[in-house]
Formats: sequence, structure tokens, C-alpha cells
Amino acid sequence: MENKEIDLEFSIKSGAPEKQRTACVVVGVFESRKLSAPAVDIDRTSDGYLSDILRGGDMDGKAGSTLLLHRVPNILADRVLLIGLGKERDFHEKAYRDAIACAIRTLRDTGSMEATITLSEIPVKKRDVAWNIEQAVIAAHEALYRFDLMKSKTSEPRRPLKRAVFAVSRRGELKFGEIGLARGLAIAHGIGLAKDLGNTPSNVCTPEYLATEARKLAKTYRFGCEVLDQAACEKLGMGSFLSVGKGSDKPPRFIVLKHEGGAKGEKPVVLVGKAITFDSGGISLKPPAEMDEMNYDMSGGGAVLGAFRAIGELGLKLNVVGLVPSCENMPNATANKPGDIVTSMSGQTIEILNTDAEGRLILCDALTYAERFEPEAVVDLATLTGACVIALGAHPSALYANHDPLAREIEHAADDAWDRVWRMPLWDDYQDQLKSSLADMANIGGRPGGSITAACFLSRFARKYHWAHLDIAGTAYKGGRDKGSTGRPVGLLMHFLLNRADKV
Ligand code: BES
Ligand code: MN
Ligand code: ZN
Repeated sequence: MENKEIDLEFSIKSGAPEKQRTACVVVGVFESRKLSAPAVDIDRTSDGYLSDILRGGDMDGKAGSTLLLHRVPNILADRVLLIGLGKERDFHEKAYRDAIACAIRTLRDTGSMEATITLSEIPVKKRDVAWNIEQAVIAAHEALYRFDLMKSKTSEPRRPLKRAVFAVSRRGELKFGEIGLARGLAIAHGIGLAKDLGNTPSNVCTPEYLATEARKLAKTYRFGCEVLDQAACEKLGMGSFLSVGKGSDKPPRFIVLKHEGGAKGEKPVVLVGKAITFDSGGISLKPPAEMDEMNYDMSGGGAVLGAFRAIGELGLKLNVVGLVPSCENMPNATANKPGDIVTSMSGQTIEILNTDAEGRLILCDALTYAERFEPEAVVDLATLTGACVIALGAHPSALYANHDPLAREIEHAADDAWDRVWRMPLWDDYQDQLKSSLADMANIGGRPGGSITAACFLSRFARKYHWAHLDIAGTAYKGGRDKGSTGRPVGLLMHFLLNRADKV
């Protein structure tokens, strides 16, 4: 079984909003009662119908407000939907995406099966038409996303939104719009897959389940795919990775995906994603509160698979390798115990002072495995530390890198994708916290700077190439009552890869 894909067709159009023969034309209104350019057109054609209504106090343009109008004079569309945009000078990226999402949800709830949405014409500072369209497609998918796989009954809207036309203001912009549309769709589909995998509970989404998903992707998009089992990992000497899965009855899987879209012999970018399908903490058991959210501890791996879906859809002209070490962190008689010492694939030994610091134990062997690809760059993604959530909250992912140009590249991609990061220090000064008297290092560095010392631990296995690490513990999913995966940072990864593909 699979979660239902969002069934909404997008296209782009230029032309006068008052002449759109459609079920609904959507126009924006700024606070207080200032019409956006397409709204001015409709107002003029309808002899001031909109201004009259606004003057009457039915709507003032506050962000999130909506007003649906029927039979607007001289307008070809059946209805006109006004969307409040907030203050014009605050109309930045977030306000833009919120406005699109608000429009899409209102269209769904009011039974318009098709609509022309002019919000995509409204300029967002420093952004171009391709950006507006790409983000509109992503925000629309975000607004309509549901995870119904585990519900016995689902309620479909009676008249679901089927076709959305995004407007651009001039004909000459159509070709940029098309670029944004293609990117937006691929990214939205990648985000969708990452969300589905994240939201699938750990009794279903096991390491083998993720391997099956990877094989499916490989078949659809002709990726190379290899799934290493316990024995294969033993042969490679992945003592650190394998130690984590020991306490579980679900066998570990080390997933390798290869996309050869670049020139032959060109060095690949390697993406590495932590995929602990459930993190109980192991013998260093987590407290009960919020433990239910630890099925999301495979979100890094989910984002790698999501990115591969988008890579396949776009036929990206770049060589990319995806590595997804996957296992379950559980306590039983064979599980890692505090004080155990394991030997990683790199040969470095690790004293496991806390079995709940397991992410770094699986990533370190994946980082060593990455060496064989002689990578151009390696980027790993992991819901690695609670400390990261305390430091940065839910908005940026934490970025660490051993190479400044790579860090800047990722900062740029994150801004392009509006999937933001915040750079953190990876100073040698922190390395002392990982000292062990019995092994080469300990797997924890104490409470101060917990996200930083986790990154420092990983850096010891990434000395042979340019490497960046994203701690996505705060950004990959939302906790609490309306918990759910965000699909981050698929958007960031895709912009990073697309920017590189453009250059070669
Ligand atoms: N998967 C967790 C990190 C995490 C915590 C992600 C909360 C999202 C929300 C990770 O494996 C972990 O347990 N880290 C420990 C490390 C500590 C024992 C040094 C943590 O952050 O508490
Ligand atoms: Mn843990
Ligand atoms: Zn974990």
C-alpha cells in the first residue's frame, strides 16, 4: 500500500485576470485594503466592485483572511477569491508561501475544481519568476498533503481541486515559469516521498522497508542500487554501524543508490542519511515523553530517498551517490551497553558511553564507506541531537562543514530553496570533550554544545574529502498533536545539486 499522491495538475499562463474563463480566479489584497495589480484589473473591469466591497469592511487584507465573491460584474470567471496578503512591505518569502497555501486550502474547501491563481505574479523581493512558480507548486503540495495510509476511513473532498493555473505577468516570463514548474514539481514529489517515509510508523517502516523503497526508485529511474546486509557490512568491518542494530530483531540494511547523470569518470556528490527506523535510546533508554516521535529518526535517510526521486524525475546531469545506513536502536540482551568499545570501519575505536548517541555510530561507518567513491563532496543529514533543537528550534537546520566554500554553497542553496540553515562552529577546541581513557574517542561529549560535539565526532571520519553535516533534528518533523514529517531538507539538497549541475 502507498499513501495517495496529490492529484492536482499545474500549468502557467499569462493574460488578463478578468478574461480567465475558469471556476475561480484568485487575487491578492494587501493590508489595509490595497489591491494587488491583478486585483486592480478586476476592479477596473467590474466598475469598482472590489473597492466597494472592501470599503464596506468585508475584508481588509490581513494575512490569512479570505473572501469568496460570486457573479462579479463583467468578469468571465464564475467566482473571484480574495486572499489577504498582510502588509505589502512585509510580503517576503514566508508571507508568499502562506498566501499560496491559504488560497489552495480555500479552493479545496469551497469546491472549486479549477482555478487561476494570480498570487504568483506578485513580486517577492530578490526573487524571480522561476522562484515564485517553484515555491507556489511546493506550497500547494504542502497545503494538500495528507497521510492517510494508516486510517481505516478517509474523507475525500466532494469536489476536489483538480487544476491550478499560476499566472505570470508577461508572456516573456512563461519560459522561466516553466523552469520553476518543473523544479517545483520534482522537489514537491521528493518532499512527498520523504514525508510518507517519515510518517510511516516504525512497525511498518523498517530497514528492509526502506531498502524496498530504494529498489523501487532504482527500477523506476534506472539508478544503480545495492543493499548490504549484516554479513556484507561485517565483511567491510562496519563494527560501529552494526553494533547499533544488535538489540533489534529487525536486520540492518546499508542502502547504496547511484545516479550517473554526469560525465563518465566525474567524481560524484555523496549524500548520506541517518535512518534509525526507531530510536528507543537502547539500554540508555529514552524517557517516555515524546518517544513516540522517534520513528522520525530515519528522516535523514528519507530525505536522501526523496532527493533521489527528484533527481530521477529531473534527469539531473550530475553523478550522485546516496548512502542510507539503516537499523533500529532497541534494548535487549545483545544490545550495546554503556562502556562497550567498538571498532569502526576506519579502524578508530569508540567507547559507547551512551547508547542513545547512536546516530553518529552509524554515520561514521557510512562516511568511511563514502571514501571509495572519491567524492567531490559529501553531505550528511541526520536527526542527530536534541541539543540542536534547543539551540536553533524548528526553523533552520544546523550546518557544519570542514570546507568554507562548501559551507557557503550550501548556505546559498538553502536560501534559494527557502529551506534554511544556520552555520555552527566546528572548532578543534570542542574535540577535547570526546576524549576517552580507554578507546580512541567516546561517543558523547557532555551536555555543553551537544550538537557541536556530535559534528566534531563525525568530522574525525570525514578527513579525506570536503564534507558538510546538517543536523535536522529540529527541522525534519513537527512533534506534538499535529506531528508529521516536513520533508526537509529535500528542497535544499535539490538546489545544491541543481546549482552544481548547472556549473558542469
Ligand atoms: N535521535 C536522537 C536526537 C533527537 C532528539 C532528534 C530529539 C530529535 C529530537 C539522537 O539519537 C539522540 O538520542 N541524541 C542524544 C545524544 C546524547 C545522548 C549525547 C540527545 O540528543 O539527547
Ligand atoms: Mn538516540
Ligand atoms: Zn537517534
